[in-house]
Amino acid sequence: MSTEQTSQKNSARILLLPGDGIGPEVVAAAQRVMQAAVDGSDRTLEFEEGLIGGVALDKTGDPLPDEVVERFDHVDAVLLGAVGDPKWDTAPAEKRPEKGLLKLRASLNAWANLRPIKVHKPLISASTLKPEVVEGVDILVVRELTSGIYFGQPKTRSGQPPQREAVDTMRYREEEVKRIARIAFEAAQDRRKEVVSVDKANVLVTSQLWREVVTEVAQDYPDVTLRHLLVDNAAMQLVRDPRQFDVLLTTNMFGDILSDEAAMLTGSIGMLPSASIGGRVGLYEPVHGSAPDLAGKNVANPLGTVLSAAMLFRFTLGWSDLARAIELAVEDVLNLGYHTADLPGAPDREVGTREMTDAVIDHLERRLAMT
Ligand code: IPM
Ligand code: MG
Repeated sequence: MSTEQTSQKNSARILLLPGDGIGPEVVAAAQRVMQAAVDGSDRTLEFEEGLIGGVALDKTGDPLPDEVVERFDHVDAVLLGAVGDPKWDTAPAEKRPEKGLLKLRASLNAWANLRPIKVHKPLISASTLKPEVVEGVDILVVRELTSGIYFGQPKTRSGQPPQREAVDTMRYREEEVKRIARIAFEAAQDRRKEVVSVDKANVLVTSQLWREVVTEVAQDYPDVTLRHLLVDNAAMQLVRDPRQFDVLLTTNMFGDILSDEAAMLTGSIGMLPSASIGGRVGLYEPVHGSAPDLAGKNVANPLGTVLSAAMLFRFTLGWSDLARAIELAVEDVLNLGYHTADLPGAPDREVGTREMTDAVIDHLERRLAMT
């Protein structure tokens, strides 16, 4: 399977799962941008909405109600806002908003998570790292998403104080490693042709298998160079010299950790999109969380979700032209100095969620008029 869709369709049905906190605002923004992208063309979009996360727990007692899962059968893609509400922080595992997200990934069989980490030039000062270290950073994190320690069984708690005990299980099957490795190599072929595979092969047997299988898969991609890095070293190299990385291939947990670290190279997690693919229906979501303190104030940065919508167009619908136009419109707006409160910039160019979205739509329409 390739990351880029080749078959195109002219109409699509998208399930919006706004979720918690700033989720509804950023999803509304992305919906407006997607609609603007197809308006006046022969392509059409239909949107429907469902519950996930804390808001789903509040209304149904389930962080991802079965009624929502059943709707995956008749949609083309899912766009998620964010899940997480402090109200549920002390709830048991089954009643946590995050559980809804894990169930969502598993139900969609979304085993390949793609997180592009790009430093946008106008935002270079947003990073806590020196500009000369982060300038030009362009990394694609390819994270295995439906296996490893997140999902391995047994996963148990037992015993009473002072003898409490808990078990998580890290398990990888050869086929799971193969398929995610192929995604990384194929993505690298369209980029700078370098894959760095991250593991802990000096300690973990799952990592030894991972390294073995990734090395075997690499033989099918002679044009791509492969390096292996231990995860502790990878964490260090990411802040020492991030430009050395093109595609970073990781297990589920290592990818979770390293993608947050890599996000901070850009200084603005609010900018980062992601795609989770592999199943029939792709899942698209910003990397940031629900930021409950910002919710409902029209201050959230919608660009991570807008860029996720661009990934949806590219990977699920094969609408690369519109995806590119959205990405360029975002660049245009940043180049003009517009920024939300999470980003650095001149005070007189600081805009809210809606105004940022208006600006992107304005530039998108100009871009589309030129083609
Ligand atoms: C992420 C998040 C999730 C994860 C949480 C919310 C379950 O941190 O998407 O990186 O750990 O995968
Ligand atoms: Mg994470």
